[in-house]
Amino acid sequence: MDSQFSPPRPADDPGARPRADWWRQAAVYQIYPRSFADATGDGLGDLPGVTSRMGYLSELGIDAIWLSPFYPSALADGGYDVDDYRNVDPRLGTLEDFDAMVAAAHAANIKVIADVVPNHSSNRHEWFTAALAAAPGSPERARYHFLDGLGENGELPPSDWPSHFGGPAWTRITESTGENAGAPGQWYLHLFASEQPDLNWDNPEVREDFHTTLRFWADRGVDGFRVDVAHALVKDMSLPLRSKPSLEITVDDGTDALFDRDEVHEIFAGWRSVLNEYDPPRIAVAEAWVPFTHRRLLYARPTGLGQAFNFDLLQAPFAAGEFRNIVARCLSEAETSGASSTWVFSNHDVVRHASRYSLPDGTDAAAQDAWLLSGGREPAGDPERGLRRARAATLFMLGLPGSAYLYQGEELGLFEAADLPLESLQDPTWFRTGRKAKGRDGCRVPLPWNSTEEHLGFGGSPWLPQPGWFATHAVDTQDGVAGSTLEFYRSALAWRRKLQTTEALQWVSAPDATLAHYRRPNGWEVLTNFGTTPADLPAGLDAARIVVASGGITRDPAHIPGETTLWIAP
Ligand code: GLC
Repeated sequence: MDSQFSPPRPADDPGARPRADWWRQAAVYQIYPRSFADATGDGLGDLPGVTSRMGYLSELGIDAIWLSPFYPSALADGGYDVDDYRNVDPRLGTLEDFDAMVAAAHAANIKVIADVVPNHSSNRHEWFTAALAAAPGSPERARYHFLDGLGENGELPPSDWPSHFGGPAWTRITESTGENAGAPGQWYLHLFASEQPDLNWDNPEVREDFHTTLRFWADRGVDGFRVDVAHALVKDMSLPLRSKPSLEITVDDGTDALFDRDEVHEIFAGWRSVLNEYDPPRIAVAEAWVPFTHRRLLYARPTGLGQAFNFDLLQAPFAAGEFRNIVARCLSEAETSGASSTWVFSNHDVVRHASRYSLPDGTDAAAQDAWLLSGGREPAGDPERGLRRARAATLFMLGLPGSAYLYQGEELGLFEAADLPLESLQDPTWFRTGRKAKGRDGCRVPLPWNSTEEHLGFGGSPWLPQPGWFATHAVDTQDGVAGSTLEFYRSALAWRRKLQTTEALQWVSAPDATLAHYRRPNGWEVLTNFGTTPADLPAGLDAARIVVASGGITRDPAHIPGETTLWIAP
């Protein structure tokens, strides 16, 4: 770091934003609890592990942590199959450990966001157990979607709907009561794994229970919620069920059979009233994989959840024009909704962006699946280039107005663990596709903290094996090392606090098609060269004022290196 400029420390935060608006430009760090940090020494990350690393998180310079589910679960879908919404998985800790974690986070000026999973419970939830034990047509069954099958003896599923993880979205049960006891009976709906029965949101009891869950965690000090598959809660279950052989959203007018229906917004208006009972109001961010249309912003309205993910940059090729267009349209979408925009490149559901960008241009999601299946060999990637582009994209994104969502391990420059031994795979995708798609385990491998320890900081054998190269990315190999990805993130996040004083952005026309250049009204300039060869530094910019550069600071007054982002201070 240049001695002329040193990054502000977190304590230096001007704190200019009103308390209730903390989320508008927050840097939110996603924790996948089983893979973050292990305090109990059993190879599984846990809540005391998160507490023990609060110093690390604070030094990283983030504003909030979002924890993927830590609730009791059989882990049929990594915890997104929740047995009990108002408890902690005993393997991860206790409610007291949760309280201690929240207290430690708040003491470090870090907010806490919990993941709420309303579309489905697990098949071990007490409601589902009761539904199986009860008869067709009972109030117990009415909390889910149970239907008789088609065909002469009900042997065919009620519709052709597929599940997200492969296979049909319906499973037939064996009845346990009445004259049919012991015989094949009704079918229940699960848009995800069969261990994730979809809840019936037309049932007032379901609605009421989620209000109780929101209050339960908000009372314990949670600052907000990430809402899992928010666009799927309400389905058109009128008979006969409509055919929908693919999970694509086919109409964007709120009448699709399964997704993005108008009625979900009534539910979230109810949630907003609950969240507004608190001071400051609790925030919520929708995970809604809906395409960019006028409907996406409905989730982000202040009368709704308040913010919504968009996955546009995550799905875009690394190219100046694409990035510029997406940013422009997301910012205008945010302005219309009244929310701030969200940005994300990596999470627990996608191939890590350092790996995505290492693959040849044009490698789409299907081709990424094939790449994973080949153990990360076909097509051959260029990891050095992948990380260079990932750092450039991240720095471009961190300079934008809005909330930046970061995924644990990206600050270490981690790649996807593409060659996990097949017998270690746990993602339901692997099993439900008949072992044709490996799924998401490769981005969920436990983090490397200490390169000198057998399990890199995890006490026992981790629940997913860490590849050999993980050690070279461990925190201890990067801490204090100039140019490391960890120090790059720390520096960018520290400077970000200076840069994010307003929410406006002005594009500066760039002479070069491979360049994206924007200015914040407080005078900060962000420039990304998406090309592979050096671009001219636009006239009037002072290389001496570069404070962060994704490829390391050089004071070349004339050029921006290829695949590099620069931040230039006013
Ligand atoms: C969301 C989660 C994903 C999970 C799915 C079902 O998309 O991010 O991990 O498998 O919902 O809950």
